[in-house]
Amino acid sequence: MPWVGRARSRVAPWVGRVVSRVALVTGAARGIGAATVLALAADGWRVLAVDACTDDPALPYALGTPDDLAASVAAGNAAGGVVAGFEADVRDENGLCDAVAWAEAEWGGLDAAIGVAGVIAGGVPLWEMPRDQLDTVLDVDLFGVVALARAAVPALLRRPAPRDGRFIAVASAAATRGLPMLAAYCAAKAGVAGLIRGLAADLRGTGVTANAVSPGSTETKILDESARLYDLPSAASFAAQQPLERLLAPAEVAAALAFLAGPGASGMTGAVVPVDAGLAL
Ligand SMILES: NC(=O)c1ccc[n+]([C@@H]2O[C@H](COP(=O)([O-])OP(=O)(O)OC[C@H]3O[C@@H](n4cnc5c(N)ncnc54)[C@H](O)[C@@H]3O)[C@@H](O)[C@H]2O)c1
Repeated sequence: MPWVGRARSRVAPWVGRVVSRVALVTGAARGIGAATVLALAADGWRVLAVDACTDDPALPYALGTPDDLAASVAAGNAAGGVVAGFEADVRDENGLCDAVAWAEAEWGGLDAAIGVAGVIAGGVPLWEMPRDQLDTVLDVDLFGVVALARAAVPALLRRPAPRDGRFIAVASAAATRGLPMLAAYCAAKAGVAGLIRGLAADLRGTGVTANAVSPGSTETKILDESARLYDLPSAASFAAQQPLERLLAPAEVAAALAFLAGPGASGMTGAVVPVDAGLAL
């Protein structure tokens, strides 16, 4: 169900035209998704912030909450955007279609869809992973992005030509590195990278682009859970494996996502951009 934050109009410049661009961001309650809502809002976008806002019975750690989503919406509105929250699970393509329909009905269309929602599970070799956890990782991390593309790309294409829509997903350094005890997560994220390249080819000549960002270890709840899976004392232990010798802040990944959504990325499609403090080197 949608619930709109402070409603007020704002006019933002976009490649010489005066329009207000509309984005849908999944995984928007916290972490990289919330930072992306904030970055887009600060750039003057209208943002529909989507999150499941519920825990998953297959996963031993807590996911985002309705309060997290409300805080993300409030932060985006305080930053100068127009942000509304919408509860939907990325595994539910119909729910995502409802979110897209809401954005089109209330804000007149959709210009960017950004798939950030994700989960992690593993900590054992693939063949020992409980089947429900394996399914959850693949269903959310790969098929959730597939569902977003199927729900949102038709709306991006409904904008009149010449259009400049953006489909953007969050992959991972795990898309290109074989991380021990995380084979399902690696498979899902490699799938996202392949999906983005295929989608970019499908979108040839439409004016809509498809790109992804591959983060390295970033200070969020997923990294806390990764530390637990590896029996590490805390997420800070991951800093040493990155050439920058620190963890990334969610805002650093969000900055790249906002760039890909913006006019500066007009020449990019099919790109999977590392924002990983050098992790994938
Ligand atoms: N943090 C890292 O080190 C790191 C590194 C590489 C990639 N990533 C990716 O970044 C993305 C964001 O994760 P994060 O680090 O911010 O973690 P996070 O756990 O803080 O945020 C994930 C958000 O996604 C939401 N979510 C989970 N399942 C959902 C579903 N089925 N439908 C809708 N929403 C759902 C959660 O409620 C939560 O708000 C994920 O795709 C993750 O795989 C993170």
